[in-house]
Amino acid sequence: MPEDWPIPDELLRKEAGRISARYRVSAEDALAALAEVFAGNPKLADRIRRRHGHEDVTRWHDYREAVKKCRKQVYYDLRRYYPEGDSADRLVDEFEREVAGPARAARVEELRLALLGLHTSTRERSAQYAEFTERFFELAGSPATLLDVGCGMHPLSYPFEGAGSATRRYVALDKDRRAIRALSAYARLVGPGRLVVVRARLEEPGWLDEVPSTGAFDLAVMLKVVPVVNRLDRSAVQRLQGLPARRILLTGSAGSMTRREDIEARERAVLQRFIEGSGRRVVGEFRAGDEFGYLVE
Ligand SMILES: C[S@@+](CC[C@H](N)C(=O)[O-])C[C@H]1O[C@@H](n2cnc3c(N)ncnc32)[C@H](O)[C@@H]1O
Repeated sequence: MPEDWPIPDELLRKEAGRISARYRVSAEDALAALAEVFAGNPKLADRIRRRHGHEDVTRWHDYREAVKKCRKQVYYDLRRYYPEGDSADRLVDEFEREVAGPARAARVEELRLALLGLHTSTRERSAQYAEFTERFFELAGSPATLLDVGCGMHPLSYPFEGAGSATRRYVALDKDRRAIRALSAYARLVGPGRLVVVRARLEEPGWLDEVPSTGAFDLAVMLKVVPVVNRLDRSAVQRLQGLPARRILLTGSAGSMTRREDIEARERAVLQRFIEGSGRRVVGEFRAGDEFGYLVE
């Protein structure tokens, strides 16, 4: 046992095991989070060290509150798209500088992959990007124009020079400042007018006016987005149902971002309700790893 654990190792490990069984966090990370909470309450930690073995300290109100605080922290950390702190901003800063400076292709490529690993949604896909890409083009063909709503960092993975070489306009939209900065930098590499980046909030009625288009898009994608925006007001959801696109690919995730639970049935129901409300019909099904969805026309 390390010398500096604030409370006895066996207590910490038991609680960490419980947290890790429920939330998508490793036992080591749960242990570190617990140690931090107890270290932040030295009087309680001291009392626990003295009384543990003589009485059941896990029944104390302040002990339980400390564990609850830790659980909450773990949960909120898992809900974030980016790690806490300024590491994400530093990575985006460096990507912008590299792209603007004399081309160093290897470093740009490293940073592109690091950015994909930074956002939870693209990180979740990292092990199955090859499968994702294959299934995507099998199902969607080669769209000449594509609108990616709630894109996150995903456009950084689009094979503009490979299977997606027929895509002459990819409009990527999100409210997320970091994704917008990284993608705007990337757009300089992809080529003028080919990757167009729009920062907008879907709850704002005029967001579609910000989207440069020449008629309906061949394809719109909302990857792991419908369950998120489903909480927006009715008119915002209706605007999404009426996206100016011939076909729409909507996906959800079978695994929760936070808990170790299967949420596929719940997410499917949300996607199906959305499709019903859009008046479109399902023309294909998508699956790659934990991600599943529907192509609608
Ligand atoms: C679960 S992530 C999916 C990201 C990306 N589509 C992917 O699959 O890699 C949801 C994305 O939707 C964006 N988003 C959520 N609510 C939004 C809103 N009201 N307006 C614009 N973007 C929103 C978030 O910023 C986030 O990037």
